[in-house]
Amino acid sequence: MIKRLKISREFLLTILSLTFLLVSLLSPIIIHAQEPKSRTIKEIKINSKTSLVHLGSIDSFDITEGGVEAGKFLFNALETGNNDSAQAASKIYDRIIPLENYGGEYTALQWFAKYLLASNSEKEKILADKYHREFFNFWAENNFANLKEYIQRKYKLKEFEDGKTFKGQSRISFLEDFILFNNPRREEWEKTSKIMQVLNLKPGMRIADIGSGPGYYTFKFSEAVGPNGKVFGIDTVKDHVNFVSKVASKYKLNNIDFVYLPKADNIGVAENQVDLAYMCSLYHIIYTVTLQEVQERYLNSLKKALKPDGRFVVVDNALVEKGTLPYHGPYIAKELVISQLEQYGFRLEKEYQFIPQRYILIFKKA
Ligand SMILES: C[S@@+](CC[C@H](N)C(=O)[O-])C[C@H]1O[C@@H](n2cnc3c(N)ncnc32)[C@H](O)[C@@H]1O
Repeated sequence: MIKRLKISREFLLTILSLTFLLVSLLSPIIIHAQEPKSRTIKEIKINSKTSLVHLGSIDSFDITEGGVEAGKFLFNALETGNNDSAQAASKIYDRIIPLENYGGEYTALQWFAKYLLASNSEKEKILADKYHREFFNFWAENNFANLKEYIQRKYKLKEFEDGKTFKGQSRISFLEDFILFNNPRREEWEKTSKIMQVLNLKPGMRIADIGSGPGYYTFKFSEAVGPNGKVFGIDTVKDHVNFVSKVASKYKLNNIDFVYLPKADNIGVAENQVDLAYMCSLYHIIYTVTLQEVQERYLNSLKKALKPDGRFVVVDNALVEKGTLPYHGPYIAKELVISQLEQYGFRLEKEYQFIPQRYILIFKKA
């Protein structure tokens, strides 16, 4: 009797393990089966060289040979005022920009090289846009101290004492995001104005710019929604929030509220507040570096902050076909974003892609 009971327990355990294994294996299929029939998921082509998510690290923001060479010339031009060095840097960027580092900082660094070579009246034109001027001021104050520090850190032209510490890593990460995302030439590679068009913003709207960084979209949203609208500029990095707040008070952009999130497990906006939650180049971070329970809290807080008919827009970096220059940094297959967000109660309404390297997904609450 005892023996029979033992056997049946083992048998039961085996059956349970097998069931668990089967459910784990089939779960993607089960998830698929529950998806609305109207949407067809584009099959992701997978080969051993293609990962569906690539997060990377600071070093994975390609430091190419040409980039180092150009960086040295630009640094020298900033140090000495030597125009030949600025010219040499710009020439290298002309050569490498179409071939390396899509969406990376080379266009911004070349913008500085061209500024150094410009006449006084051309310089005025280059800085005519107030946000370009603020970008310039940040890098140029104290004889280009921030720009020189960035080039030295990024291209390893000098050892910094804090280089390997959290403080040093945070500093380079802040500077890198600043130059990448407030790049005056971002429109060229991202086609930002097309993204703005499909967002169809109206005066009076309320927007959460989640992971606002140095404010590239926050400022555009502020202008689009006007004095009766509201933009929440939300970020986990104090230096970004401080910069956006400084620029906003200088230009009296009174419709921006600043949300600094020291602990990133909710978006820091109250319930039923926004018509649009916008997340550009952040979802891949939430997806990859946070625990599932944190993702749940974060996305649920986002869902709560959205008004019933509100839209959640995810803009992120796509996998590209072989032969197309990929985005220089992290990417995430849009199919992963869509299926995860469906699990969190969102429904994909529309999608756009103006360049192969970046997609725009528009969700509503299911
Ligand atoms: C790649 S940058 C993009 C900046 C901006 N969205 C843009 O496209 O110009 C991502 C930003 O998200 C911020 N961030 C990272 N984790 C976050 C989180 N959990 N909540 C809010 N912001 C976050 C980073 O500090 C950084 O400024």
